[in-house]
Amino acid sequence: MKTITKTIKSLLVATAIISSSTLLGADGSTLYKNCAGCHGMSGEKVALGKSKVIANMSEDEITNAINGYKNGTYGGAMKGLMKGQVVKLSGDDVKSLATYIASLKQ
Ligand code: HEC
Repeated sequence: MKTITKTIKSLLVATAIISSSTLLGADGSTLYKNCAGCHGMSGEKVALGKSKVIANMSEDEITNAINGYKNGTYGGAMKGLMKGQVVKLSGDDVKSLATYIASLKQ
């Protein structure tokens, strides 16, 4: 009986740890792995020959751009493509990404 209680207790602890890290959301460097193919590992590329060099953008500019792609108020000829990249990001994801990308500036 004691062993079962112990097992349940450790399961509960493990679940608590897993859910608290989910609450924090994914970190910017992990999320950015989905973007690096077009924008470069350091945000240094002109994606598909069209985008700005995002490493040169400020955190606010990046946040505005991502939120604008999500709701269709920002972008150029290829904004539809970017919408597909960011539409599923939460507000916290956008924040982590913007902080991370802005930190890439050399
Ligand atoms: C398939 C290639 C591709 C991927 C993957 C991609 N992007 Fe883009 N990104 C582009 C293109 C092309 C543009 C320019 C779109 C336009 O016409 O507005 C752009 C524009 C941007 C801009 C605004 C720059 C500007 O020109 O105003 C930001 C910020 C940005 N992307 C961030 C991201 C983030 C963050 C991710 C990952 C979640 C990502 N991108 C994934 C191709 C890509």
